[in-house]
Amino acid sequence: MSLIYEPAEDSYLLCHVLEKELPLLLKQNPNLKFLEIGVGSGIQLETAKEIGVKKENIFGVDKNMEAVNHCRLLGFEVNESDLFENVVQNYDVIVFNPPYLPEDSLEDEESKLITTGGVKGSEVINEFLIQAKERLNKKGKIFLLISSLTEGINYNGWKKKLIGEKNVFFENLRVYSLSF
Ligand SMILES: C[S@@+](CC[C@H](N)C(=O)[O-])C[C@H]1O[C@@H](n2cnc3c(N)ncnc32)[C@H](O)[C@@H]1O
Repeated sequence: MSLIYEPAEDSYLLCHVLEKELPLLLKQNPNLKFLEIGVGSGIQLETAKEIGVKKENIFGVDKNMEAVNHCRLLGFEVNESDLFENVVQNYDVIVFNPPYLPEDSLEDEESKLITTGGVKGSEVINEFLIQAKERLNKKGKIFLLISSLTEGINYNGWKKKLIGEKNVFFENLRVYSLSF
């Protein structure tokens, strides 16, 4: 059985950013389509619903089938997928609170899936940034959480703006809004 990520400071920072940013985007487009990569407990899906994104426009994926089943029980449309592998439509908002920590040989395999983003911490994020280009609508926005501990992110042409930040123990968490 794989672990489901329990909401932590990174989750709450991303929720806070969604509460700040989504209302204006919904005003411009009440039918906006929302996708989360890496749903975990479903906290961001619930936040999107509470803010007013129509439930039928909220989608999610996770590599971890336990998280997929959990979010399906909450009533959301969620599929198993490694990043965008099983995502076929395009979205106006895509959010990702990724595994962003550099590899730690002492960490067990299950928890690595949730927290470790490769040797430098940025491998999963860099692959996400490449694949997301195919799945974001023209005027769409990505909300991506990263840590000061993540090294080597390649923004590769994305326009980025810092829209949320918090110091937690030994790291600085940040949320960037990315667009074309
Ligand atoms: C840090 S947790 C975030 C969970 C939740 N979104 C939150 O904000 O609390 C990262 C999530 O991404 C999932 N994940 C990791 N690598 C993934 C990948 N390549 N494709 C899809 N999901 C992935 C993990 O299983 C985990 O549920």
